[in-house]
Amino acid sequence: MSLKVEIELTLNGATARASVPAHWSALTALRQTFDLAGAKLACGEGECGSCTVIVDGESVNSCLMPAVDLNGRTVRTVEGLWTDDGVDPVQRAFIEKGAVQCGFCTPGMIMQARYLLDRNSDITDAEIRRGLEGNVCRCTGYTKIVDAVITAARAAA
Ligand code: FES
Ligand code: FES
Repeated sequence: MSLKVEIELTLNGATARASVPAHWSALTALRQTFDLAGAKLACGEGECGSCTVIVDGESVNSCLMPAVDLNGRTVRTVEGLWTDDGVDPVQRAFIEKGAVQCGFCTPGMIMQARYLLDRNSDITDAEIRRGLEGNVCRCTGYTKIVDAVITAARAAA
């Protein structure tokens, strides 16, 4: 039987509490305990960005973060982008630009893009390209993804 640890965090704007196995990653806790399946497990080694979430305002590869380190943190996942007003402008731009194919990388891409745009309201195209370098997509060839993020950035400016 594995040791469990109590954690409490602010998850997509609401307080969340759980008892999680001490050896779990934050990604596993988000997906299995909190039923937030947007962030994906691909490499599990911090190389692909499919598990990207925002923790205390920083972009994080949740596959590398211990679940116990979620305690006391403020976490935003792709599920938290949905509001009463509809989808986030980054999500809308992905739809409009056709930046989604299989969709496996999409939640991580969108969270990384949201992080970049939240940090820098005057972001350049080059900074967007550089900021997305850690997120791998096997389908799109990246052009439509970059176009979508640039579109969302310009719309917000
Ligand atoms: S699954 Fe986390 S970086 Fe690839
Ligand atoms: S859309 Fe398939 S991996 Fe990016």
